[in-house]
Amino acid sequence: MDIRTQPLAAPPVAIHRADYVPPSWTVPDIALDFDLDPVRTQVTGRLSVVRQGAGPLRLDGDALVAETVTVDGTPAEWAMEGGQLVIDLVGDAHVVEISVTIAPEANTQLMGLYASDGLLCTQCEAEGFRRIMFFPDRPDVLARYSVRMTADRARYPVLLSNGDHVGSGTLPDGRHYAEWRDPFPKPSYLFALVAGDLAVNRDSFVTGSGKIVELGIWVRAGDLARTDHAMHALKTAMAWDERAYGREYDLGVFNIVAVSDFNFGAMENKGLNIFNSRYILADPDTATDLDYDAIATVVAHEYFHNWSGNRVTCRDWFQLSLKEGFTVFRDQQYSADQGSAAVKRIEDVRVLRAAQFPEDGGPLAHPIRPNSYIEISNFYTATIYNKGAEVIRMLHTMLGEAAFRAGSDLYFDRHDGTAATCEDFIVAMEDASGRDLSRFRLWYSQAGTPRVHAALDHDAPGGRARLRLQQAVPATPGQPHKQAMPMPLRIALFGELSGTKLLPEQTVIFDGAHQEILFEGIGERPMLSINRGFSAPVTIESDRSAAELAFLSAHDDDPFARYEAMQQLMVDTLVEDVATGTADHAAVIAAVKATLADPGLEPAFVAEAVTLPSEAYLGDQMLVVDPQAVTRAWDRLRRALGETLIADWRGTHAGMAAAGHAYTSAGKGMRRLRGVALGYIVASGVEDGPALAAAHFAAADNMTDRQTGLSALAMTASAQRDAAFAAFHARYADNGLVLDKWFQTQALAPRDDTIDVVERLATHPDFVLTNPNRLRSLVGAFAINQRAFHDASGRGYRFLGDMVVTMDRLNPQTAAKLVPPLGRWSRFEPVRSGMMRAELERVLATPGLSKDVFEQVSKSLG
Ligand code: TRP
Ligand code: ZN
Repeated sequence: MDIRTQPLAAPPVAIHRADYVPPSWTVPDIALDFDLDPVRTQVTGRLSVVRQGAGPLRLDGDALVAETVTVDGTPAEWAMEGGQLVIDLVGDAHVVEISVTIAPEANTQLMGLYASDGLLCTQCEAEGFRRIMFFPDRPDVLARYSVRMTADRARYPVLLSNGDHVGSGTLPDGRHYAEWRDPFPKPSYLFALVAGDLAVNRDSFVTGSGKIVELGIWVRAGDLARTDHAMHALKTAMAWDERAYGREYDLGVFNIVAVSDFNFGAMENKGLNIFNSRYILADPDTATDLDYDAIATVVAHEYFHNWSGNRVTCRDWFQLSLKEGFTVFRDQQYSADQGSAAVKRIEDVRVLRAAQFPEDGGPLAHPIRPNSYIEISNFYTATIYNKGAEVIRMLHTMLGEAAFRAGSDLYFDRHDGTAATCEDFIVAMEDASGRDLSRFRLWYSQAGTPRVHAALDHDAPGGRARLRLQQAVPATPGQPHKQAMPMPLRIALFGELSGTKLLPEQTVIFDGAHQEILFEGIGERPMLSINRGFSAPVTIESDRSAAELAFLSAHDDDPFARYEAMQQLMVDTLVEDVATGTADHAAVIAAVKATLADPGLEPAFVAEAVTLPSEAYLGDQMLVVDPQAVTRAWDRLRRALGETLIADWRGTHAGMAAAGHAYTSAGKGMRRLRGVALGYIVASGVEDGPALAAAHFAAADNMTDRQTGLSALAMTASAQRDAAFAAFHARYADNGLVLDKWFQTQALAPRDDTIDVVERLATHPDFVLTNPNRLRSLVGAFAINQRAFHDASGRGYRFLGDMVVTMDRLNPQTAAKLVPPLGRWSRFEPVRSGMMRAELERVLATPGLSKDVFEQVSKSLG
């Protein structure tokens, strides 16, 4: 079988949301029999099919060849039509049996059944099941699955699938079998199996109603010691979902398997989550605090899908945000409850701005409920996930916790066991709260990040302040004209003289293109604190002065607003420098110094507040980006902060040294702030910078500090730098996840020669294209490093274009994810812009392109 993408005979066609029709046949039950082998796996499916409408039975298949097809036990007539197996059935209920042979080891797409590190595992979302068995592979066809697996006992001693284990035994010739049954009807995208030589960390959880759930985290034997954090996170998440949403787990078993080769983060298959090993494995020697945090978040996310995704699933893939936006919101709430809610909110907004805002402002912009797609895998985006979560958060803010919870309960009650739509979710929120959300629905249909202009003026004699709000939603592809959208804006006013809050915070629902809000009893000149907590996912434009921003950065009582004021001050300073070639750094330096000296602030918050916005984020603030000008301005401010505050940074670096490796909120915060201080010391250019970073690296008793030291050294041109990278590589040569950090740290280095380093690393023996983590750690990281990727030579563009073309033959889904950085061409100065476009055109002209890459590249060219 040819595992490579078939050449496109005709341009791929788009699927439209408006064309939805219910399935004409359902499949209440399916029995799957797997004779597992890495080279040739025989799969037989027995589908009970029931007529719901007119027409023949159509079953999706991708790279499958039917070997036998019977209907009710007799060989049947069938035909292949556009990838579908079509059978004309006369009655209303039949049993269809089909056999196919698949080749897991040749499956480099990592969709369907594939081999990873000697394991066999599956990934079916969104349309991978059709690479395993002919089936109506759409999320509104829910079936009860019985699975039987037969395999070599020595090579695959563990055989797992969804639901409950119902039988197993030995067979002749060193083989054995296992049978699993999932009592909950589910769509095919939630099917999973795993076969391999796995060790297990077992635990159990008692649900609120007293039911015992057997928990298992399955990994390679050598990784068992790194599973405790994930297990702890799982149990915490199970308890949290009962408390916060009243959701109990429903099966007697919950298994998680970690695999090394995985296209995404993890997958919520019913009762058998499959994870990218990077979101399971952690110990202090190999995982950073950020890894620990991400593991807890992703474990919780996949667990939460058991209700928001599995018990209530999606009618069609246009509804993807129904499960993903809601579940991201739920995992954000969970993580906020585990530590500092303020810091978590800052981190979530940073991710939104780094990943989703550029998407919303570029050629791939789409609403959280898209209207069409060519390849659904391209729509697992920051918009669907992160903006989707922001939209749910706005509902939560507008309705309040109690009504939101009532709406969520109603939604789960009403739609349990079915495939629902985003509209169903909104209606449940309306019914439970009595609110009219008609206009709020625009958030589901319109793309683009709204720009809100806020102007505050003061009528001193009248003791009144007037806030004038204006909003504009920018045009996006296919949506030239937009309507204003309702959004909750949390607002407060502070007195310029007294420095106190003049009124209690208000949540204003800004609904319309213009709105005026009057505040009475305002005697002194007020300063505006707006979009507190980032209550709406919008860009705020206000003409607040450096002095006002400095004040708010020191005194606002909303931590997010305080962080935001500092960020805005930094952005204004840097943008000024880019525009004019010079800027006054004094206000930023004073604000950073004050923040460092404030004893009331937690270190993690200070670390966030004093960190400069990234060069890429600065680029996003400009109509036309000149990356070299951004780099110059950024380096200048960073160096000035380092030099002027060198005593403060040294004091902070020394003062935070006692954090050790305890994974606690306080310990994490101290390590983070200490790392930020080290970065500024090195950036200041002081002579002992590299030596200090090398000492930080050498003395580390945990990966967070080691990684921090390495990143700081990566900025320098020093002998210590090369020594540290060599030592790091030698120490972790047999740990793939840590080697990813070795690649990533070099690819992210803010240096002029990063492009040379990256080109060289692409030929390193440890660089393998077939492992998505490794690819992302080098190529993905490089492409978000603005100064390196946009090297004036254009070599960065060529490098990425080559990678897209090469990867497309192996793994189209992962190749397509590399395209967006090139798609930002229209934002760059003309020379770079032209080179980026030319690269996209070269990719598009490549014969045999997958529809994944075709869609991303053709849309990027506009
Ligand atoms: N549903 C998964 C999640 O968000 C996402 C996912 C995992 C996925 N693997 C995938 C999506 C492969 C598309 C293709 O939790
Ligand atoms: Zn998800």
